[in-house]
Amino acid sequence: MELESAVILVTGGAKGLGLGIATHLQERGATVIVADLDAKSVAALPKQMEGFVLDVTRLDDARDMAAKMVTQHGRIDVLVNNAGVIYSEPMVNIMNPLGMMHDYDRFRASITANLDSVFIMTSAVVEQMVLRRTRGAIINISSISACGNEGQTAYSAAKAGVNAMTVTWSKELGKLGIRCNAVAPGFIDTDSTRHALSESIVKHIQSNTPLRRLGKANEVAKAVASLIDNDFMNGVVLDVNGGLTI
Ligand SMILES: NC(=O)c1ccc[n+]([C@@H]2O[C@H](COP(=O)([O-])OP(=O)(O)OC[C@H]3O[C@@H](n4cnc5c(N)ncnc54)[C@H](O)[C@@H]3O)[C@@H](O)[C@H]2O)c1
Repeated sequence: MELESAVILVTGGAKGLGLGIATHLQERGATVIVADLDAKSVAALPKQMEGFVLDVTRLDDARDMAAKMVTQHGRIDVLVNNAGVIYSEPMVNIMNPLGMMHDYDRFRASITANLDSVFIMTSAVVEQMVLRRTRGAIINISSISACGNEGQTAYSAAKAGVNAMTVTWSKELGKLGIRCNAVAPGFIDTDSTRHALSESIVKHIQSNTPLRRLGKANEVAKAVASLIDNDFMNGVVLDVNGGLTI
């Protein structure tokens, strides 16, 4: 697909990794539309970037937005499912006898934010792609946690589900001319990573990574661009982690 003429929707693109992806794709010539829950960050987007306030866990709103995008831009070529919420909670916390076990409501909330959201947005956008016979692409932002990360039951399960949906859709939607791939970042130097991890854990990750550093948002963005660009890539979960898992 020609990136330069593509109409691309990036969810959660008002901050962090999503903003890095949206910026890179726009610099490569694409028309980029951002959908994010955080109204303040949407309002602060660069002038040339169109932004919508949207909760990607709400199917009706997602369908309205996809229809609006098609009215305004004629089609949606690419959906980047980036919106998500990193969440950590151990299955058992013996230091907290009153709430020793992983809270079920928080488990459900994390699954909704990180797994249901990807289903909902893909459903809303693929409907428009199919109606207009668009030969489109879906890119899901997964995570190294999909392998099962200690202290992240819900988040790991959600991201493993994202990988499974990626492969399933690559088979189902490939027949309709719609490719589906994922990028699985390792630990990227973003505010959310710095917020979630202590300095000593960051140092530990760096020393276990062959490249001895965290990744950059721009490096994840380049992986997304290559999956959009290459028309024979389908059903791939691309690791971008400095070799941490090898
Ligand atoms: N930062 C990392 O190291 C890292 C590593 C692996 C995977 N990831 C994944 O990358 C993606 C982005 O992570 P990040 O680190 O930039 O996080 P972040 O918190 O900085 O950004 C996430 C964005 O998604 C938006 N968002 C959250 N819930 C939403 C909802 N319901 N509807 C619409 N927008 C919503 C937020 O407002 C925010 O702008 C996530 O899917 C995350 O799981 C991040």
